[in-house]
Amino acid sequence: MAQSGERTRSEAVRLIKLGKVQVNGLCQRDPAVKVKESDIVTLAGETVGDDALQYYLLHKPSGVLTAARDSRAQTVMDLLPENLSRRKVLPVGRLDKDTTGLLVLTNDGALAHSLLDPKRHVWKRYIATVEGRLTEADVSAFEEGVPLRDFTAQPAKLTILEAADDFSTAEVEVHEGKFHQVKRMFGARGHEVVRLHRASFGPLTIPEGLKEGEHIRLTDEQVQLLRDAINR
Ligand code: URA
Repeated sequence: MAQSGERTRSEAVRLIKLGKVQVNGLCQRDPAVKVKESDIVTLAGETVGDDALQYYLLHKPSGVLTAARDSRAQTVMDLLPENLSRRKVLPVGRLDKDTTGLLVLTNDGALAHSLLDPKRHVWKRYIATVEGRLTEADVSAFEEGVPLRDFTAQPAKLTILEAADDFSTAEVEVHEGKFHQVKRMFGARGHEVVRLHRASFGPLTIPEGLKEGEHIRLTDEQVQLLRDAINR
C-alpha cells in the first residue's frame, strides 16, 4: 500500500490494523503479510495498486516544467508523492513553465484524452496580466476568434478586470489548449502576457488555501464532475 504512493507506511499499517483493508475479498489485519502481484487489495472498496485509477489536482508554481521527467529541471511530477510515475500518472495537458495554477494529473488515459479533445469544449479559465491597455476591441476580437499564424483560435470569452496604459488584467476562458494558446492570442492583439494563472479547468477550481506546489487527491465527486463535463 505504501509502495503505491498513496499513503505512508505508518498510515498503511494503521489502516490494516483497523481492519479496513481486504486482500482478495478477505479482511487482513496483519501488516506483515506479503501480497503477490496477482492479489487484489482493496481499501474501503477501492482497489489499491498500480492499476487503480488516480486523479490529482496540483497548484502548479512558476518555474516548474509540465513534463513527466527532466534530467535538469524540476517537473510537476517532483511535487507529487513518489512512485506515481510508476503508476503512469501524467499531467492532463500542459502549462508553460512560467504559468501557475490548476493542473490535473491522472493515469486515466481515456478521461485525459477526452478532457483535451477540443470538440468536448471543456473550458479553462485563466487570469492574465498583459502589457498595455485592454479595450472592448480586444473583447470583440476574442469573441470572434483571434487569427494566428497557423490557425484561427476558437471564440473565447475575455473579461477585463483592470485596464491601464502600462498593464491590464483580464479573465479569459478558452476551450482549446494549443501550445502557448493564450499568450499567442494576446500577442496577436499586441499585448504581451507577463503573468498567466489557470484558475479553473472545466468544473474544477483551485481549492481555497491550496498553496502553490501543493496538491489534493480528487474526490469521487470531483472525478464525476470531470466526466460530466466531457459528456455534455
Ligand atoms: N496558454 C498559454 O499560453 N500558456 C499556458 O501555460 C496555458 C495556456
